[in-house]
Amino acid sequence: MKRVIVQSAAGDYPVLCARGLLRNGRFLARALFEPERRYVISSPRVWRACRPRMAAALGGAAGARLILLDDREAAKTLRTVERLCRRLVRAGAGRDAVLIAVGGGVVGDVAGFVAASYLRGVRLVHVPTTLVAQVDSAIGGKTGVNLREGKNLVGAFYPPKLVLADPAVLASLPDRQYRSGLYEVVKYGVIGDAELFEYLERRLDRLLRRDAKALDWVVPRCMRAKARVVGGDEREAGPRQALNFGHTLGHALEAATGYRRFLHGEAVGWGMVAAAEVARAEGLLAPAAARRIRDLVTRVGPLPSLPEGREARILAAMRADKKARAGELRWVLPRRIGRVEIRSEVSERLVGEILTRLPEIVPRLPAGGQGRI
Ligand SMILES: NC(=O)c1ccc[n+]([C@@H]2O[C@H](COP(=O)([O-])OP(=O)(O)OC[C@H]3O[C@@H](n4cnc5c(N)ncnc54)[C@H](O)[C@@H]3O)[C@@H](O)[C@H]2O)c1
Ligand SMILES: [Zn+2]
Repeated sequence: MKRVIVQSAAGDYPVLCARGLLRNGRFLARALFEPERRYVISSPRVWRACRPRMAAALGGAAGARLILLDDREAAKTLRTVERLCRRLVRAGAGRDAVLIAVGGGVVGDVAGFVAASYLRGVRLVHVPTTLVAQVDSAIGGKTGVNLREGKNLVGAFYPPKLVLADPAVLASLPDRQYRSGLYEVVKYGVIGDAELFEYLERRLDRLLRRDAKALDWVVPRCMRAKARVVGGDEREAGPRQALNFGHTLGHALEAATGYRRFLHGEAVGWGMVAAAEVARAEGLLAPAAARRIRDLVTRVGPLPSLPEGREARILAAMRADKKARAGELRWVLPRRIGRVEIRSEVSERLVGEILTRLPEIVPRLPAGGQGRI
């Protein structure tokens, strides 16, 4: 079993990762606190896929109370938070409750925010079931929900007591969701782990097949990377910003298309290619390295095409994002594979130019994977 300790001002916590971890009922019976205080928060879809494993982990039906919520991105709202809190009250959950979030980033972000605010804070355990959640959202303590005005605008830093990741649960993930997580894996390579990047260049085909050996190497490696970054900078004052590589444009793409065209990781895929181009144009990154980033992103799979009339809409979304973030719009630019730097100003003209060229820079992308999510 791989074990990483994440440092947090509110108390350090362990992240455990092993294939078959959730089947280890006896170990989990101790790790998951008192059975009568457990509330499993999940979604109907996740629960259908993960119930056999979780039932083993929880020691049968008596091992926890189950609350299912809608985990579509559109339901990541304050209304869902209120509903969940009210169900906890009705179920008799007190200050000593333990919320066990079983699901992807949506379940984790909502349950995490509820754990932060219900009775001013109850214990939280993450059991991430998507690749994004295992390598990213379950670690670092960011929780929150969306407003109509933008994503993740209401939330709290609220670290869990424990994170339990079992790569075996990824087997049931829809293909597009799985690949969406792989773009975030590529991100870890670019921002701080050249060895991971090279591994991905060599072994991407195995990872795309969800080969157990490849996944069991990659998932803990990314977890460690995330733990290292957030441990030193919980509130994103400095180094944690590197995790936003590909996200400046990625967020704008998601917003400009009403969050319907791209999965988050897919938008980040485009964003990473664009950021590499910005870095190349600014003379920070060698053309060959920019090409390697582009090639690896392209190999992960088909990206939905950019929206029609894209430049103006995307630039407008970036301006709106900048305003929502109190005038700060930072670009994370690679200097080489494994090293990035933060720039607060990149000229809009350059970004516009790169947006125009982006479909030619990534010429092989077929139109597949489009449509509503
Ligand atoms: N808190 C953070 O630091 C952080 C970081 C990254 C992303 N996020 C947030 O995470 C969300 C995205 O999360 P996500 O990518 O994990 O997707 P998700 O939570 O939307 O889940 C994707 C889909 O897969 C299904 N699913 C989940 N696990 C499954 C499994 N094992 N088998 C079958 N189906 C399964 C879900 O029901 C859902 O339909 C966004 O809201 C984003 O803002 C938060
Ligand atoms: Zn992301």
